[in-house]
Amino acid sequence: MTSDTTVRICFVCLGNICRSPLAEGVFTDLLKQEGLEDRILVDSAGTGNWHVGARADARMQATARSRGIELQSIAQQFEPGDFKHYDLVLAMDQSNHDSLEHMGSGRLADGKLRMFRSFDPQHNGDLNVPDPYYGGDQGFENVFEIVHRTCPQILDHIKREYL
Ligand code: 4NP
Repeated sequence: MTSDTTVRICFVCLGNICRSPLAEGVFTDLLKQEGLEDRILVDSAGTGNWHVGARADARMQATARSRGIELQSIAQQFEPGDFKHYDLVLAMDQSNHDSLEHMGSGRLADGKLRMFRSFDPQHNGDLNVPDPYYGGDQGFENVFEIVHRTCPQILDHIKREYL
């Protein structure tokens, strides 16, 4: 691809109020640090529709804010036709991946759909970002640690493969 390519990525979890908004916020912060926010467009969505229109969960916002990151996303549901808008769709867990694969009906999702933690150097064979919604604060901290160490690896991948 040429040097003026724009790459579009979307992080996807279940509700789009915890894990994928954090990934969007952390990744956007990285892009700003590197001056790449015009080259890589970041979005997030949920496979479910329960929280459409909502800001990120207050607990996820608080965890992010304590690390200097403001979560700006408004929850939206991923639709099958959205695959054509994105170059890379990153599922936060296997269940999200299965839902997306189903929606993508094979060819649409082909080559675009990946597990977020497949880029985590410390995944140790577990590719799920654990859903923190029904747990305590430690779950949100754990999600932050996973997302924070994985986003730079995803950015490196995009630089290598897409820009
Ligand atoms: P997320 O977390 O998928 O990381 O946004 C969840 C948020 C809400 C629900 C489940 C998971 N829920 O069941 O409402």
